[in-house]
Amino acid sequence: MFKKVAVVTGSNKGIGFAIVKNLLRRFDGLVYLTSRDDARGKTAVAELNKLGLKPEYHQLDVTDRNSITKFRDHLKNEHGGLDILINNAGVAAGVEDNATYEDCKYVVDINYYSYLALEDLLFPIVKENGRIVNISSDCGHLSNVRNKYWIERLTNKNITREEIHEFVQWFMDSKKNGTFDRNDIADGGTCASYRVAKVALCALTRIQQKELEQRNISVNSMHPGLVQTDMTHDTGFLTPDQASATPLYLALDAPPSLRGAYVWHDGSVLDWFDYKADYFFKSKNLY
Ligand SMILES: NC(=O)c1ccc[n+]([C@@H]2O[C@H](COP(=O)([O-])OP(=O)(O)OC[C@H]3O[C@@H](n4cnc5c(N)ncnc54)[C@H](OP(=O)(O)O)[C@@H]3O)[C@@H](O)[C@H]2O)c1
Repeated sequence: MFKKVAVVTGSNKGIGFAIVKNLLRRFDGLVYLTSRDDARGKTAVAELNKLGLKPEYHQLDVTDRNSITKFRDHLKNEHGGLDILINNAGVAAGVEDNATYEDCKYVVDINYYSYLALEDLLFPIVKENGRIVNISSDCGHLSNVRNKYWIERLTNKNITREEIHEFVQWFMDSKKNGTFDRNDIADGGTCASYRVAKVALCALTRIQQKELEQRNISVNSMHPGLVQTDMTHDTGFLTPDQASATPLYLALDAPPSLRGAYVWHDGSVLDWFDYKADYFFKSKNLY
C-alpha cells in the first residue's frame, strides 16, 4: 500500500517553501520539496530538517520536459503516482516598463507554457480523488484584460485550449512586432506578460477541471495575496506562512464540490468572468 504523496513545484523558497513546511505539519503522507537548482533545493531541505521536518526531495525544472519526465518516472516507480499537486513555480519581471520580447518569453514560458508540459506528463499519474492547485495571482483575474475582442473570447465558457494559446500568442506577437498597446491590459499595461500568463492559467484551469472530472480530481486556481517574498522584494501584507493557508485549504480541506474555481487569498470564491471588477493588480501597491 503506497503512502499518499504531495508535490509542490518551485518550493526552495517563498510561498512554495511555506506550503511544504505547513503541509509537513498537517498532511498524512510524503511531501516533495522540488527545485530547479539542486543546491538551492538541498539548502531548503536542510532548513526544514533543523525544524524537525522531513520533506522528500527531487529536482524539477518546470520548463524542462526531460526534468519533468525523470520526476514523473520517479513518482510512478516509488509511489504509484501522486495525490496532491501544487503548481507554485513562477517568476515575475518587475513592472516591466521596458520589457523586451525575450523578457516576456521568459515570464510566459515559466508561468504558462510550463503548465502544458506538467499536465501532459504529471496529470496522468495523479490518483483518483486527487487535488491540484494552480497558484495564479490577482494578475490572473479576467479584469486584467482590457482588450474588448479578448474579453469576449475569454468570457466564452466553452473556450478551448487552442483559443487560450491564441490569446498568449497574440500578446507575444505584439511584443515581437512592436504593436503592443498598453491599453489592452489593466494598470497601463504594467507587468503585461505576467498578467497574460496568469489570466491564461486561470482559463486553462477551468478546462483542466472538465477533463479531470471523470477521475474525480479537483483543480482550482488561486491568488495568494501580496506576499513578502523575493518576487515582491519583501513588499506585501502577508508572510509566506500566512499565504500558505489557502493553498493548504484547497489541497486538504475544501469541499470536493469546489472545482474549477478562482479563489482569493482569504478563501473566498470570486467570479473570474467579472471583467469589470476591481480585482486586477495595481502596481502602485508594490511601492
Ligand atoms: N509574492 C506574491 O505577492 C505573489 C502574488 C501573486 C502570485 N504569486 C505567485 O506565487 C508563486 C510563488 O511566488 P513567490 O512569491 O513565492 O516567488 P519566489 O519567492 O520568487 O519563489 C518562486 C519559486 O519558483 C521557482 N521557480 C522559478 N522558475 C522555476 C522553474 N523553471 N522550475 C522550477 N521552479 C522555478 C523559484 O526557484 P529559484 O529559487 O530557482 O528561482 C522559486 O523557488 C508564483 O507562481 C507567483 O507568481 C506571488
